[in-house]
Amino acid sequence: MAATGAASYFWFNRGGDLSRAMTAIRSDIEAIRERDPAAASLIETLTCYSGLHAIFLHRLANFLYQEKIPLAPRLVSQMNRFITGIEIHPAARIGEGFFIDHGAGVVIGETAEVGDNVTLYQGVTLGGTGKECGKRHPTLLDGVTVGAGAKVLGAVTIGKNAKIGAGSIVIHDAPADSTVVGNPGRPVRERGRKVGAADIDWTHLPDPVADAMQSLVRRVVELENEFKEAFPEKREEIEKAQEQGEREIEKVFDYYHRSGNK
Ligand SMILES: CC(C)(COP(=O)(O)OP(=O)(O)OC[C@H]1O[C@@H](n2cnc3c(N)ncnc32)[C@H](O)[C@@H]1OP(=O)(O)O)[C@@H](O)C(=O)NCCC(=O)NCCS
Repeated sequence: MAATGAASYFWFNRGGDLSRAMTAIRSDIEAIRERDPAAASLIETLTCYSGLHAIFLHRLANFLYQEKIPLAPRLVSQMNRFITGIEIHPAARIGEGFFIDHGAGVVIGETAEVGDNVTLYQGVTLGGTGKECGKRHPTLLDGVTVGAGAKVLGAVTIGKNAKIGAGSIVIHDAPADSTVVGNPGRPVRERGRKVGAADIDWTHLPDPVADAMQSLVRRVVELENEFKEAFPEKREEIEKAQEQGEREIEKVFDYYHRSGNK
């Protein structure tokens, strides 16, 4: 869905008055109680969740921004960053039921648009690539989850209910109901079915250098054996050199296997 079409879902475009803000804040509190089993009571939720404090302050900053009050929105946003470690540009559009779990180190850029019931974990960036002007931050549609440390960069659209794996770097659109992982982020699941499995088998890539070395070692051993037969008087000398060589090759292969190779 185009970013402008998606924007009609957002609280920002539904009037932006204070009563709307209160409804949104109520849904933010409910989101924590629904999505975090550790949230034991209302008072604990209100006092101990920096992600909740961040969205409270953002809704205030966004209200001031829409009222076109100069400077105050940025000051509230900076105060938010100082208190919670979460930086949200006052212009960013964020829907209802927004939850930043373990909130810290989250950055949300000016033209980012976030739908309803979106969850972000610590260290997430919804940022620009540095190459675009105008709309340059991501659009996250309803129900998206972005794992710890993931970076979603540029004016990309993350489809409804998509999951972005922890530590991923996403620079392309993601389909609805997909799981995207890796750098660059690629869908590994769509609507519950695995996709592109071969592309993400990074741990079992062929290693041409190791293969070439193994074939060289084989060739040298063959030559040594032929040499022993051709020059029996040098047999002892060659066997000593072979033993020494084998010990060194064992060390190399031991290191190679301990690095996770087969
Ligand atoms: C991506 C995630 C949501 C799992 O989604 P899912 O649809 O259930 O996907 P699966 O667990 O079946 O994983 C699908 C594939 O992606 C891989 N994968 C999962 N998460 C990954 C990640 N973050 N980075 C790289 N690969 C990942 C899996 O190993 C699996 O690969 P395989 O098919 O070769 O076995 C989850 O792994 C994740 O990263 N959640 C974020 C949690 C988080 O940030 N927690 C912070 C708590 S403080």
